[in-house]
Amino acid sequence: MEIYSTKSQLQAHLRTLREADNKIALVPTMGALHEGHLSLIREARKSADIIVCSIFVNPTQFNDPQDLEKYPRPIENDIQLLKSECCDILFLPSIEEMYPSSDETWHIDLGDLDGLWEGAKRPGHFQGVTQIVYKLFNLVHPDIACFGQKDFQQIMVIQRMIDVKQLPVVLKICPTVRSEKGLALSSRNSRLSEQGKENALVLFQALRHTRNNFAEKPIEQLHEEAVSIIIAHPHVTLEYFAICETQTLQQATAKENTKEYVVLVAAWIEGVRLIDNMLLNM
Ligand code: PAJ
Repeated sequence: MEIYSTKSQLQAHLRTLREADNKIALVPTMGALHEGHLSLIREARKSADIIVCSIFVNPTQFNDPQDLEKYPRPIENDIQLLKSECCDILFLPSIEEMYPSSDETWHIDLGDLDGLWEGAKRPGHFQGVTQIVYKLFNLVHPDIACFGQKDFQQIMVIQRMIDVKQLPVVLKICPTVRSEKGLALSSRNSRLSEQGKENALVLFQALRHTRNNFAEKPIEQLHEEAVSIIIAHPHVTLEYFAICETQTLQQATAKENTKEYVVLVAAWIEGVRLIDNMLLNM
């Protein structure tokens, strides 16, 4: 695996690969890699010749300085994991490399997506995500880019950016990888105690309850039942739980046969913010 920390080295290497007609896939990450990230690398391999993984803890998408500071950075372990997955290129830039100018501005119209759920709870988050992903797309010019369903709203935001900027990249969405008991894998899980991970399972239980009863029960009742499951847990603080139309992420009131629905949840456990989601009728 080649490891590059500068844009120029990366671009020079990619140029020769592209000249040889290689199909390139990009897997952007913030590191602290787990099976969820590795599943993206494996998925990328199915449709590309060269896999570029980036590891960059992007400061502009953190609205909470404490969260940025505490973000895990086990880089040596990450490199070993990527090597064992036969990743071709790791791009590991510094903050200065990605943000050479301190007064850089960025804004993209994300419509309602910027003001709903994660957008509302983490102001500026999706502007920061699109800012860095746009830079990475521009650098790598990937044929495909792999993202996880785990961050459902993020996928919608990236697709919107691709459409708005008319970027020639195909987004590949990969299913959420969970622990045996159902906890969605996340780099932030490493900040939870074993008990915290057990407590976090209540989110999966509430999502599963919603999905398993979606055909029979009205949305309002399902919402009430799932919220009761979560708030009954003394060590879990619910931030939002919403049953939404997948197309718009607007909260659904009544079911329509032609529409698809997704349930989104965010909650705090041991000072760690977790998000999860589940498709309901797809
Ligand atoms: P990060 O949280 O490191 O996630 C990198 C990619 O891995 C994202 O596409 C995310 O959805 C996916 N992923 C995380 N957990 C997963 C799981 N359990 N199953 C499947 N896929 C999973 O998302 C980001 O970084 C950043 O916002 C980034 C896009 C890199 C921009 O900075």
